[in-house]
Amino acid sequence: MELQGKTAVITGGASGLGLATAKQLAKAGVNLVLGDIEQGPLDEVVAEFKGNSVNVIGVNIDVRSADDVNRLRDEAVKAFGTAHIIFNNAGVGGGPLIGTDKKMWDWVMDINVDGVVNGINAFVPMFLDQNEGHVINTGSLAGLGGVPGMGSYCASKFAVVGMTEVLYHELAFTGKDVHASLLCPGFVKTRIHESGRNLPKELASFAENPMAKAVQGIAAEAVNSGIDPSIIGEMVEDAIINNKFWILPHMRSAIRTTEQRLVWMQGGDTPGIDLMKAAKS
Ligand SMILES: NC(=O)c1ccc[n+]([C@@H]2O[C@H](COP(=O)([O-])OP(=O)(O)OC[C@H]3O[C@@H](n4cnc5c(N)ncnc54)[C@H](O)[C@@H]3O)[C@@H](O)[C@H]2O)c1
Repeated sequence: MELQGKTAVITGGASGLGLATAKQLAKAGVNLVLGDIEQGPLDEVVAEFKGNSVNVIGVNIDVRSADDVNRLRDEAVKAFGTAHIIFNNAGVGGGPLIGTDKKMWDWVMDINVDGVVNGINAFVPMFLDQNEGHVINTGSLAGLGGVPGMGSYCASKFAVVGMTEVLYHELAFTGKDVHASLLCPGFVKTRIHESGRNLPKELASFAENPMAKAVQGIAAEAVNSGIDPSIIGEMVEDAIINNKFWILPHMRSAIRTTEQRLVWMQGGDTPGIDLMKAAKS
């Protein structure tokens, strides 16, 4: 896809990977439609982009709501005539599998999985009609192998990986100029470890779970030593321009994780992940 003058819609666009990708695409002359649940940070980034003469709108949405995501599409169409790129990126971290309340599970799955489904439903029919579009879904290395301490998060990212592979094949079947990419990063220096800032009040007791707290501390350390989000922005841009499915910023870890699972399936050693041990010490 030639990017100049196109319009990209980015969920979770006020922070982290979404914001970094917005900055990268803006440099290529792309109009931005940023959707986010956090009004304050959204207003700030929109003002900054406007200050740099970028064509941008911000839309306060909750990706759990199909109505909100449809409204995001409608606002994009109203502002820029159509959209060409949807980056289904908004996401949150959860906690361990054992001892996590079902309500907490639902919160993570509703955002990380249903949010992506809502994005696909809102944008793909329009892309097919206009015979042009690109869908990027944010998975994770946690969608390629089970990680202790990340129960709902892993489950949600496995779902995104499966869903996006299906999307790739179904789009290919249509023969239209509409494509899909799957972003599976390892740790990136963002605010993902502070996902609890958007946790509904009734779930606040989750923070009292000692195991969850221990895991959160380790996750924070790992995220803070992660790669710079600008690397993700560059790789997403490249995947759109050159139509690449896999976006693997931590390529070696992605391959290693996959190889270790294969060895395990074939009766060999289990993958050597020991976050729980670290969480206890
Ligand atoms: N940072 C990492 O190490 C890492 C690694 C792999 C995958 N990811 C994925 O990257 C994506 C982006 O996360 P990030 O790391 O940039 O974190 P982040 O917390 O910095 O940004 C996430 C953004 O999503 C928004 N958001 C949260 N819930 C929302 C909702 N219900 N509706 C709309 N917006 C919502 C937040 O307000 C925030 O602006 C997520 O899907 C995450 O799972 C992150």
